[in-house]
Amino acid sequence: MLIAPSILAADLADLESAVEICERGGADFLHVDVMDGHFVPNLTIGIPVIEALARRTDLPLDVHLMVSNPGHLLDRYLEAGSSWLSVHWEAAAHLDRLLTRIREKGARAGVALNPATPIEVLDDILPALDFVLIMSVNPGFAGQSFLPYALAKARRLQAKVQERNLEVTIAMDGGVDLDNISRVAAAGVDFCVAGSAVFGSKDPAATIAALRSRAESEAT
Ligand code: DX5
Ligand code: ZN
Repeated sequence: MLIAPSILAADLADLESAVEICERGGADFLHVDVMDGHFVPNLTIGIPVIEALARRTDLPLDVHLMVSNPGHLLDRYLEAGSSWLSVHWEAAAHLDRLLTRIREKGARAGVALNPATPIEVLDDILPALDFVLIMSVNPGFAGQSFLPYALAKARRLQAKVQERNLEVTIAMDGGVDLDNISRVAAAGVDFCVAGSAVFGSKDPAATIAALRSRAESEAT
């Protein structure tokens, strides 16, 4: 299981400590939530912060664009240091073009799906993407409760990926914690974002390791 702590749930006045915690805890990625106050109600961080993070850490940045027009500034997000970049299906009128561009720039191309959006909308585009970020909360805020029906979506996606022999990473984002990560892993998810579960805990670095070991020991 790959673990990507979401820095949205960290102390945003002390991102340096958040990065250090992720490195010490053995995180695989930093998950960076970009919100525009339009596609989602909240506003968070953007290109200058991505650039600053990329300068500070060798951890790859998994950038989740929750913006209405993901084509706008796409190259800038990539050049800022996004290793993995996801755009929302609900916001992307020209998804094929965006995914092609992300790959051309050398990053992994992902599509994020809101909870109410079925996996099946991706049937035709699956071979052109590297990962699907299944939202298990309505995007906009950290600290919300996990929506269990996201598990059925992960299982359906896993079946499609296996049946078609594709290489698509299945990621889950929202409300993932120590209590539910084993069920998430058992549903075929191989990449978990965790915000509050990590940064709201007493020992965030230890929690990153605990999430991984709980996922791996109980996944089968
Ligand atoms: C929600 C964001 C998530 C969020 C995760 O809109 O996309 O990445 O920060 O935080 P938790 O794990 O607290 O739900
Ligand atoms: Zn996210």
